[in-house]
Amino acid sequence: MKIAILGTGNVGRALARSTTRAGHDVVLSSSNPAAAQGVAAAIGARVAATNAEAVSGAEVVILAVPTAVVADVVSDLRSALDGRILVDVTNRPTPDPDGKRTSSIAEELQALAPRARVVKAFNTAFAARQEEPNIGDIQADAYVAADDEDAKRQILRLAESIGFRPIDVGPLAQARTLEGMAWIHISLQMQHQWPWQSAWKIVGPTGQPEG
Ligand SMILES: NC(=O)c1ccc[n+]([C@@H]2O[C@H](COP(=O)([O-])OP(=O)(O)OC[C@H]3O[C@@H](n4cnc5c(N)ncnc54)[C@H](OP(=O)(O)O)[C@@H]3O)[C@@H](O)[C@H]2O)c1
Repeated sequence: MKIAILGTGNVGRALARSTTRAGHDVVLSSSNPAAAQGVAAAIGARVAATNAEAVSGAEVVILAVPTAVVADVVSDLRSALDGRILVDVTNRPTPDPDGKRTSSIAEELQALAPRARVVKAFNTAFAARQEEPNIGDIQADAYVAADDEDAKRQILRLAESIGFRPIDVGPLAQARTLEGMAWIHISLQMQHQWPWQSAWKIVGPTGQPEG
């Protein structure tokens, strides 16, 4: 799979390592091309000079940029994203303070780029687990939401290829719940000084093979 990863911070580096390890063709871009070059060289990925150049040859575009800039990044690329699978891993840095939010980041990005095939995935996993989804013999879950069924299938397969147990959680509106799950998990790390290594996993009989 030809994958462009925009951003080479915690998430960009982690997913670049796991996708490259799984044999995907990965190109990286970042606001700091020199830093991207260093990351790419270390893991055997390619680097593009700009986000637009990275996206131009990609089937899948992973948005690993800070939440504060993700809408601008998508707006800048808009028509370049037409027909491409756009994976949103972002989370809001604070919970919805007054409970009035009725949308998710993923749905907001879909509205900005209506012809992109937006998929919410990997946002519930910390970078450590995005790089290595297995904790001993426990395989972390990857929850994947999208309205485009083919795009969702492809990202479920991508998640499986890098070591997650992939779980289809339904339409893109489920991103609201996935973003909430991520926030609970983040809050627990901060509240109890956990080491940002834990992962979400549904256990018990599901009809799926136990990972
Ligand atoms: N960290 C986690 O464990 C985790 C897990 C799940 C989801 N998330 C979400 O994933 C997103 C990224 O998190 P992160 O921890 O990877 O953040 P990060 O470490 O701050 O990395 C962000 C990366 O994006 C780059 N960047 C900034 N503006 C850009 C632009 N316009 N075009 C291209 N690249 C740009 C930054 O470059 P510069 O450093 O040069 O600015 C940096 O390489 C956030 O929305 C976060 O909520 C994080």
